[in-house]
Amino acid sequence: MDIKIPLLRPYFNAEELEEVKKVLDSGWVAQGPKVKELENKIKNYLNVKYAIAVTNCTAALHLSLLSIGIKKGDEVLVSDYTFPATGHSVVYCGAKPVFVDIDLETYNIKPDLICDKITKKTKAIIPVHTFGQPADMGKIIDIAKDYDLKVIEDAACALGAKFNNKFAGIFGDTGCFSFHARKGITTGEGGMVVTNNKELAEKIRKLSVFGMQATWEREQKGFFIPEFNTLGYNYKMSDITAAIGVAQLPRLEKIIKRKQELALYWDKKLKNIESISSPYVDKNARHIFQSYVALVDKNINRNKLIETLRKGGIQTQIGTYASHIQPVYNSQDNCSNSLDIFNRALALPLYYNLTEGDIDLAASWLKKSLEKIK
Ligand SMILES: Cc1ncc(COP(=O)(O)O)c(C=O)c1O
Repeated sequence: MDIKIPLLRPYFNAEELEEVKKVLDSGWVAQGPKVKELENKIKNYLNVKYAIAVTNCTAALHLSLLSIGIKKGDEVLVSDYTFPATGHSVVYCGAKPVFVDIDLETYNIKPDLICDKITKKTKAIIPVHTFGQPADMGKIIDIAKDYDLKVIEDAACALGAKFNNKFAGIFGDTGCFSFHARKGITTGEGGMVVTNNKELAEKIRKLSVFGMQATWEREQKGFFIPEFNTLGYNYKMSDITAAIGVAQLPRLEKIIKRKQELALYWDKKLKNIESISSPYVDKNARHIFQSYVALVDKNINRNKLIETLRKGGIQTQIGTYASHIQPVYNSQDNCSNSLDIFNRALALPLYYNLTEGDIDLAASWLKKSLEKIK
């Protein structure tokens, strides 16, 4: 079946090609000056001291956890409703992810439930800014202070989001961003860790380049033979990837504003469609709508609805995953809100070049599809 309206479409133009061409012409395509440029641009945008570009947000989370010393025997509290990269990053360190249930409205970790899950083994909390809506960072940071826990923000979907006028990703010890194809701006695959902590920044940088000093920085200093005294990883972003990010970043605010307008238009449309409710926006949040995720009523078969919409050329998707039910974690946690949202969330098309006319069409198919599956 032909897709008439996709779920997403990245927004590229000639600037990406020009930036990539500059890198190719320069002859330096691995990690180098373009990565530095992207890191500096992210630092300026977020007003944060350190930014380390990596291959993806999963690597950003993994290195963040290693940098704060997470190891075998530790427990890390993780917002349950998330892409499993969040839980996986904890397991990579040999630690145990303990899943915390979410708020039914914001889909974010419910701060009130965090304290019950804290044990002597708990070392950190990973709140997730789900679909671009920031978690309640005020309460989360207070709890972390009270219990002496570190906070790693999974801001994969939230570059540009704000909580109480402060950017998501700069509340915690580190913030981790993704430039995957479905994010606000994209480099295909890519990620960034930000922090105001020099020691963590240095550890993360070193771990991202096999446990040695960065290749490009080494070249600037002249000849020397580095030592490998830490078991690091190859999580470096390349200059080709960074070039796409450098072209994308100046467009971020424009993209966010347009997506917010389109989200309001979807809200209006959904008012006339029974059985589907529009996403809630916290009054303290700047929700950047990485995705527009509505909820279907309990009596609707969400999966059948997605299939029926696809037959009409409208691509929709589930929201994201309930982590505690994924067999890989063998978890004993009970997160009933997350499970409920996992079964009922419906991501509707939303991207910069989508038009109100596209939404009209998608909404009318949505109405028809609901009739069909009754
Ligand atoms: C909440 C969340 N965390 C982490 C990730 C992993 O990001 P990446 O694909 O850049 O590794 C994703 C990706 O979809 C995500 O949605």
